[in-house]
Amino acid sequence: MRTPLVMGNWKMYGLLAEARALASGVRDGLKRVRDVEVALCPPYTALAVVSEILGGGPIRLGAQNCHWDASGAHTGEISAPMLADVGCRYVLLGHSERRREMGETDEQVNRKVRAALAHRLTPVLCVGETAEERRQGLTFTTVEGQLRAGLAGVPAEGIASMVLAYEPVWAIGTGVNATPGQAAEVHGYLRGLVSELTSKEIALTLRILYGGSVKPDNADALCAEPEIDGALVGAASLTVAGFIGIVKKAARAGAVTKGD
Ligand code: PGA
Repeated sequence: MRTPLVMGNWKMYGLLAEARALASGVRDGLKRVRDVEVALCPPYTALAVVSEILGGGPIRLGAQNCHWDASGAHTGEISAPMLADVGCRYVLLGHSERRREMGETDEQVNRKVRAALAHRLTPVLCVGETAEERRQGLTFTTVEGQLRAGLAGVPAEGIASMVLAYEPVWAIGTGVNATPGQAAEVHGYLRGLVSELTSKEIALTLRILYGGSVKPDNADALCAEPEIDGALVGAASLTVAGFIGIVKKAARAGAVTKGD
């Protein structure tokens, strides 16, 4: 019912030559893949070249952040219309690295979500608890707070067009992924909240990705969970083989769901 989506978050990696090689390798290696959607999120400086390499093909382009204003005196910032202009379909918002390193607040993330929707980008709203919050039994409280604040004032049809990503902070870049069971529990909780904020129908069609140390060898088990609708992949998206390996596993899970 929900086609899996696998997104590569390249973070602050990829000089132009590397970006070109990675994007063309992924494009060429995934020509015949079905039952899955794929997006690459390179750094800003590589968006234009990756956009050109992906052309009008099935792999989509995404950015890792945007400003909430459409234009203005904001030195160093990039707006949603600029991302749409260079060919982006998706934008990651509220990634924990930005919340932690740049002090991004829930209120700012919410403004970005609304700006992205206003300019026809698909926001991928990221939520997740820290190790300490999990230890204290605050996982659900944390993700609920981030979700409600991030979606404040967004109409149901806007939420319906979004993607959510559950990324436990303790799993990002650590090599320790959440177990499929741990992730599915939080995904189910988030889906319940979306149902409350919109409708049961919308909640059932909304994709919730898992992110945090997804690799080719754990992608199978994660994507087999009915609640997990794909992956947001950091480190493993930086090699053609690693990323393609994950996409193919997600595609297999997608085909099973569809009964192909
Ligand atoms: P990771 O990063 O796959 O390197 O853990 C995931 C993310 O931060 O989106």
